[in-house]
Amino acid sequence: SGINLEVLPEVGSTNAEVAQRLSGAGGAIPVVIADCQTAGRGRRGRNWASPKGQNLYLSMGLTLQGGFAALEGLSLVLGVAVARALEAMGAEGVGLKWPNDLFADGRKFAGILVEIQGELQEGVVQVIAGIGINVHMTRAEEVDQPWISLAERWPDIAWARNALAANVIREILGTVDTFERQGFAAFRSAWQERDIFCGQELVSRGGEVAGTGAGIDDGGNYLLKTDAGVVPVRAGDISLRVQ
Ligand code: BTN
Repeated sequence: SGINLEVLPEVGSTNAEVAQRLSGAGGAIPVVIADCQTAGRGRRGRNWASPKGQNLYLSMGLTLQGGFAALEGLSLVLGVAVARALEAMGAEGVGLKWPNDLFADGRKFAGILVEIQGELQEGVVQVIAGIGINVHMTRAEEVDQPWISLAERWPDIAWARNALAANVIREILGTVDTFERQGFAAFRSAWQERDIFCGQELVSRGGEVAGTGAGIDDGGNYLLKTDAGVVPVRAGDISLRVQ
């Protein structure tokens, strides 16, 4: 099998490009990288700022055993994979914000969007994993949250996009393999070592629950310590922020 990598000058969204290249069972894993996106997508219906020549926009088509139940775990372990790829290049202090945003010094520098393509057969799902990393970006319009780029946070590292892409792809392939064989539990401590919410006073965006960040359980739910005990919060149901 292996991968089938295409590097394109400009696309709407690399996730949409990979969706067109995902075909049935077997065959190479489609990977698309673009120099620029005209309709970059983020989680929760947001846009993803995708200026030309500065950042990494990469999507992979993954076929996954374990059915739809495995998808929440997958999106968390992909965060660990990207963190490890950056750490392999020398970055220290890479943080994860549940479920899978990458943070440094309280600012976001990368995001992951997992979209479901469909179910190939019972228990085998195809997904598109899109990774956006701010590499050299210094200015962006319409980013509605504090952000930073790799070059700004780790100026002593030579952030070549080709090397970065190769590391990200390699880490993701290894991570998905381990995840399929051992499940999310194999990544729980790796995820928690990078948890930026741990020990923070948190509240859900709708105000439904509040408590102190206490890591994740083996299902990838975020744990809040409250007066009434430890409450698990499911990804997708609720989003958390620092109070
Ligand atoms: C997030 O909201 O944090 C997820 C952002 C994901 C952005 C990446 S860039 C490559 C891929 N193509 C897209 O349109 N989105 C993802």
